Amino acid sequence: MASDVRCGLSSLLWGAGLVILVMVFAVIEVPSDVSRRGLQLRRDWISLTEVEGYVINGVNATNIRAFLRHLTLHPHLGGTEGEWQTAHWVADTWRQQGMDEVHLVPYEVLLSYPSTSMPNKVRLLDGSAREVWASAIKQKPLYAPEEFDPDLPFTFNGYAAAGNVTGPVVYAHYGGSKDFAFLAEAGVNVSGSIVLARYGKAFRANIAKMAEDQGARGLLLFSDPSDYAPEGPDFVYPHSYFMPPSAAPFGTTKLVDGDPLTPFYPAVESAFRIPEEEAAIPKIPIQPIGYNDAYQLLRELGGAKAPQRWQGGLNITYHLGPGFRESDWTVNLEVNNRNTMTTTYNVIGVLQGREEPDRYVMLGNHLDAWLFGSLDPSSGTAAMMELSRVFLQLYNETGWRPRRSLVFCGWGAEEYGLVGSTEWVEQFSTQLSNRVVAYLNVDMAIEGNYTLRTKAAPLLTEAIYESSKKIPNPDPEEVLAGRTTVYDTWAHRRPDPHEPHLPRMQSIGSGSDYKTLQHNLGVPCLDFRYTHDNVCTA
Ligand SMILES: *[C@@H]1O[C@H](CO)[C@@H](O)[C@H](O)[C@H]1NC(C)=O
Ligand SMILES: *[C@@H]1O[C@H](CO)[C@@H](O)[C@H](O)[C@H]1NC(C)=O
Ligand SMILES: *[C@@H]1O[C@H](CO)[C@@H](O)[C@H](O)[C@H]1NC(C)=O
Ligand SMILES: *[C@@H]1O[C@H](CO)[C@@H](O)[C@H](O)[C@H]1NC(C)=O
Ligand SMILES: *[C@@H]1O[C@H](CO)[C@@H](O)[C@H](O)[C@H]1NC(C)=O
Ligand SMILES: *[C@@H]1O[C@H](CO)[C@@H](O)[C@H](O)[C@H]1NC(C)=O
Ligand SMILES: [Zn+2]
Repeated sequence: MASDVRCGLSSLLWGAGLVILVMVFAVIEVPSDVSRRGLQLRRDWISLTEVEGYVINGVNATNIRAFLRHLTLHPHLGGTEGEWQTAHWVADTWRQQGMDEVHLVPYEVLLSYPSTSMPNKVRLLDGSAREVWASAIKQKPLYAPEEFDPDLPFTFNGYAAAGNVTGPVVYAHYGGSKDFAFLAEAGVNVSGSIVLARYGKAFRANIAKMAEDQGARGLLLFSDPSDYAPEGPDFVYPHSYFMPPSAAPFGTTKLVDGDPLTPFYPAVESAFRIPEEEAAIPKIPIQPIGYNDAYQLLRELGGAKAPQRWQGGLNITYHLGPGFRESDWTVNLEVNNRNTMTTTYNVIGVLQGREEPDRYVMLGNHLDAWLFGSLDPSSGTAAMMELSRVFLQLYNETGWRPRRSLVFCGWGAEEYGLVGSTEWVEQFSTQLSNRVVAYLNVDMAIEGNYTLRTKAAPLLTEAIYESSKKIPNPDPEEVLAGRTTVYDTWAHRRPDPHEPHLPRMQSIGSGSDYKTLQHNLGVPCLDFRYTHDNVCTA
């Protein structure tokens, strides 16, 4: 939310700069021979230590704050006017900073939006089909309502099918394959029902596919407080990073990465497109709801008591269904989303390398957000833009350039399933697979101030350890305790479970724009953030 800038985030901006610094030091190699020769440098000589010192001192939290404020002024869903504005602003800023090249790269893609006039709704209906209760249509504003943009979209899940369905509810735990198997064994018939599942283990699109394959009419997703607010309703945002009761798990329900109509090929204007009916998108309506709304359904649910491990953090006993204690009650799910062709933009900025300009070290983040996107993704983008500013200032003052080209990337429509980055990699895969040295992703630079958290290809482990040892610890209490670098706190607070003297390095997954580079092209990737002390949602 835009207002986070004033509350939760303001104390954390230092971390954003740090995260991205660690990333860059991990792979920048200053050619000491060349700098010693000093041929093209305006100054005689600039050492790696000098470059590091310049960048560490140059990153300015006031600038990160200003970038973040600008990026979070308005909602900027992928493929909308808001994303277009964001892309242009990032491109203009990089041009003003003096980037050698800046490109806006458009793709014509199928995206999904809620209706602007008819909100999606979940209704509890009694035996005479009278409405007993209806779900919220937007998340509850945490600040003064006048701060909220009228363009804030109604709550929805990307690519959930439109439909108006009614049926009994079945509770499916995390909606994993084992959970559906358990329901089948317990004799609970999912066919014809509306599945209610906790979000947190299985990916939304997989839950949707399983529910659909078993004949469910619809799917409701919620974040259970045992996963997302374990310390109770008083310790949620804005008092902590935990989810407040009305927060709904926004997200895509598409199974395959990129534009759904051009699988494996770039979604350029002239591309061949498969019919929408053949695309890997759900055929059933799906809707995310807050846990305060899930409570309204779960407390009325009938059928057998759910097993102990299926019980959650709400103050009731969870039942499996199907149906309610009042046997003639049903749930109605009305989803008014529509899928539409639109344009999404990537922004690519290049700072040419001196020695090997055709080898690329890429840094990137997505531009689109489900709502205002203050943590995800703008904390990362704001930090990345400050870093590019510092590099260009360094270049202006000394003539220093990195050995290889630095390629800064702003990706479009990531939230819909890595759309912009996947299309770009599909278009330029031949060049990229030969030229990219590493890709550093900083989707959320900040979600807490506790420790660094990394996910990386094993090839980069040593480089990350070594570079995080160079970053001064911004937490004064940690420094007093003798832990003077970012590495020290990381090793202390998140030790590796197998080698406890080392910090924990997680393996790279598939949750953000590094996915296609890492898994399709084999480019070593890292994803970094500063995180909180809650391991269960880390
Ligand atoms: C940080 O940036 C702000 C605004 O651009 C400027 O006023 C301030 O002097 C800068 N701080 C440092 C330490 O350079
Ligand atoms: C959807 O179905 C519900 C329950 O039958 C009904 O009240 C509602 O008007 C329907 N919505 C639309 C747009 O037809
Ligand atoms: C499950 O419910 C569907 C729809 O109500 C019905 O057609 C099907 O026969 C049921 N299956 C079983 C095993 O009871
Ligand atoms: C149980 O939880 C719900 C939803 O969070 C809340 O509205 C209700 O007041 C709680 N009831 C009790 C007895 O704590
Ligand atoms: C670097 O110099 C160029 C050309 O004078 C200028 O346009 C740009 O704003 C400068 N960049 C920074 C970050 O100071
Ligand atoms: C980290 O965040 C906590 C919770 O918001 C806060 O109390 C603490 O002062 C922060 N620490 C630093 C070093 O900013
Ligand atoms: Zn993100």
